[in-house]
Amino acid sequence: MTTLLRIDASARATGSVSRALGDHLEGLLKARHADLHVVRRDLAAAPLPHIGQETIAGYYTPAADMTDALRGATALSDALIGELRAADIVVVTVPMYNFSIPSALKAWIDQIVRIGHTFSYDGSSFTGLVGGKKVHVLCAYGAAGYQPGEPFAAANFVEPYLRFLFGFLGMTDVSFVGVEATTGGAEAVAANVAEAERRIAASLPAI
Ligand SMILES: Cc1cc2nc3c(=O)[nH]c(=O)nc-3n(C[C@H](O)[C@H](O)[C@H](O)COP(=O)(O)O)c2cc1C
Repeated sequence: MTTLLRIDASARATGSVSRALGDHLEGLLKARHADLHVVRRDLAAAPLPHIGQETIAGYYTPAADMTDALRGATALSDALIGELRAADIVVVTVPMYNFSIPSALKAWIDQIVRIGHTFSYDGSSFTGLVGGKKVHVLCAYGAAGYQPGEPFAAANFVEPYLRFLFGFLGMTDVSFVGVEATTGGAEAVAANVAEAERRIAASLPAI
């Protein structure tokens, strides 16, 4: 069985370009893996709570010293990390909001980035503990010019951030495909989406 963890972050349930890219990729993956098991986290339909005082206390408490209250406060983090670990393929669909990622996705990140679980620190260096996965990040940008060398590259706090973050956790096989200028005319958007779909297909390993 191949397990796909799909995380959708757009606040839009309909009309979302990033979700449409995710649907396209999911279709391609289903055609390749007859046994594909899909686990979904729709962060708009079911927003995750932000971490709180007790969650953070639980993150830094050794397993032997955990209380029932701390276990309760970190139960969601345990479950989300379990989903991430179990996945062979991770698909994250993400719109740019105010030059960065939606807060809904940041809430997921704050639940899964956890010392001793998804990364370790030996006093001098960090090691990612979540390797061996293929990660696809599918982005939608309202404007254009966010790629390296382009005028707004310095304002892109989506792709560089997520690339660093996944690498920090040990996920280095990460492909990014984005559609820019989604707020443009319908014809231009359709052409950009078609080009992104070609790049998504190209990002899959040859069969
Ligand atoms: C709250 C909000 C903030 C946005 N901020 C930006 C931005 O900083 N830069 C940009 O290019 N587009 C921005 N946009 C446009 C979205 O990135 C664009 O509409 C994208 O297609 C949204 O993703 P979706 O189609 O998957 O919903 C913003 C949209 C919203 C709703």
